[in-house]
Formats: sequence, structure tokens, C-alpha cells
Amino acid sequence: MKDVYSKIWELAKPHLDTRKNDIHTELAIQYAFRLLKGEGGDEEIVVPAIILHDVGWKSVPEELHLKAFGPKATMPEINRVHEVEGVKIAKEILEKVNYDQDKIEEILEIIDGHDSRKEPISLNDMLVKEADKLWRYSREAFRINRERYEQTFEQYMDRLRSNLDKWLLTNSGREIAKEEIENRSKDSRDD
Ligand SMILES: [Fe+2]
Ligand SMILES: [Fe+2]
Repeated sequence: MKDVYSKIWELAKPHLDTRKNDIHTELAIQYAFRLLKGEGGDEEIVVPAIILHDVGWKSVPEELHLKAFGPKATMPEINRVHEVEGVKIAKEILEKVNYDQDKIEEILEIIDGHDSRKEPISLNDMLVKEADKLWRYSREAFRINRERYEQTFEQYMDRLRSNLDKWLLTNSGREIAKEEIENRSKDSRDD
């Protein structure tokens, strides 16, 4: 990773020790690099945006998290808080590393709507959304989310399979997701 991305990551980390966001973000960064390779897009926007997209979660009390996201969410308006707070924290971090001002604006706009805005506004935005969702297909997410949502292996797998075309819009994203589904079906399952 470029030096400046490592600096952003170090500054982001203290904001990510909730909701397993440290693990979630690290994996999403890896998916983002793979998507950039397959789809193009501007690495200097997509990588900082994915590193910083969830830094706002610490502003949401943990007991409200499961009401704010996931299949049992009942209060999606709380989800919005993590976007708004995330924009403020991301701005501070990007300014601290002297990131280019125009790029900061684009990154913040992506973070501001990464969950609430359903239609991507650009290729860069789309790649951030996809990297964020692709993590759900990782081995770690199977472990973390199954416990979080109290789902069996099959229930979780069904959710991933049936939402694949809805969640993922690029060829690369769909390919990665299918590959991960294949890998997960070979993993040992402890239902
Ligand atoms: Fe988020
Ligand atoms: Fe996320």
C-alpha cells in the first residue's frame, strides 16, 4: 500500500474498534484493490474512501447497532448517523495527511451516502459500495455475521446467493462473490 494509505489506515484504526469494523475494513480494502484492477476507477479516491467509510460507527451506541443494520434492522435512521459522523472524522484525517482538497471532497461525498444512497453516483462510488458488500462473502464474515444474526450456515449462504445480483453491480464484483461462495462451500461448517 502507498505510504499515504498506510498513514490514513493508522489514523482510522482507533475509530474502528467497534462492530468488528477493524476486520471488516481490512477485508474491504483488499476487495477494493481487486475491484480497481478489474474495473478501473481512481485508486486515490476508492482506497481512502473504503478505509474511512465506517469510522463513524463509534458515535452510535453499541446496543443500537443491531437495530441499525443487518436483516433485523428496525431503525435505519440510526444507520445514517454513522455516515454523517464518519464524514467529519474522515475529513479531519484526510486533512491531517494533507490529501488533495478536490479528492477529499469526492471521498467525503462517497462516505456520506455509502449505505443510505442506493444508486451509485460514479464508478468510484460503486466500487466502494461493492468492496463494502463483498466482505459479507469472506470467511471472517461468515463467522461474525452468522453469530450476529443468529443464522445457520445455510441461512447465511442463502442470503448471500439470493442477493448477489442485487448487491453487486460489476462483473468483477460478481466474479469475486461467486468465487468466495465456492470457497465457503468448501470451508468446514460448524452449525
Ligand atoms: Fe457503513
Ligand atoms: Fe462497511
